[in-house]
Amino acid sequence: MRIDILTLFPQMFQSPLSSGIFKRASDRKLVEIIVRNIRDYTHDKHHTVDDYPYGGGAGMILKPEPIFEAVEAIKSEIRLEEEISALPVVLLTPQGRLFSQQIALELSGYNHLILICGHYEGVDERVREHMVTDEISIGDYVLSGGELAAMVVVDAVVRLVPGVLGSSASPIDDSHTTGLLEYPQYTRPSVYRGWAVPEVLLSGNHAQIAKWHREQAVIRTAVRRPELLDRVNLSSEERQLVEGLQKH
Ligand code: 6GU
Repeated sequence: MRIDILTLFPQMFQSPLSSGIFKRASDRKLVEIIVRNIRDYTHDKHHTVDDYPYGGGAGMILKPEPIFEAVEAIKSEIRLEEEISALPVVLLTPQGRLFSQQIALELSGYNHLILICGHYEGVDERVREHMVTDEISIGDYVLSGGELAAMVVVDAVVRLVPGVLGSSASPIDDSHTTGLLEYPQYTRPSVYRGWAVPEVLLSGNHAQIAKWHREQAVIRTAVRRPELLDRVNLSSEERQLVEGLQKH
């Protein structure tokens, strides 16, 4: 998978991309992430990337020319016309659709993505209308730019690329993949400051343990994020368990 990121602040990506799963994924040639400075696609002496809004108002607007030229430069490296027409060009903006595990899964199915980091003041609307194919927000709060949002999206997508996590950690059990929050986990020591690990986990009875995991995940979800249960298939026993919790 290849991801091109267009930003005014390429330095912001240096540290996150050089550690953890990004490093592992790029060392193994599973993912190639190319960060490009929008300013490099300007032609004037001052490398102007923004300008005042027509009609007045606060803040500066990102100019269309450098963004169009940056995306076109990326597309010009692609030989196949059908690859170009399928290529998602994603604008990170608080006005986009709300990011979710479902969207991460959808994006992980492409072999190439372009992410454009917008700025709160805005991007010229013609970029949206004639270049961008998708707009994503990571939540209902305002960030000063799309860079941190792009990192969130890239993290969630890259860990779903086959081989990135390795065999031990599977994304299949993740919260939001099962639709349930994760069950509580413990490691050694079995008793710490007098607090014991639940006995069933030490029993070696795998069927009992799986049952406990599922039950705990249902309970945790019912208590913390009950709205998530609307999309989960619960057994009639699990429904009863949830209803029991809701009475208290
Ligand atoms: Cl994608 N950009 C900005 N600037 N703020 C946000 C956001 C994106 N998602 C949530 N807040």
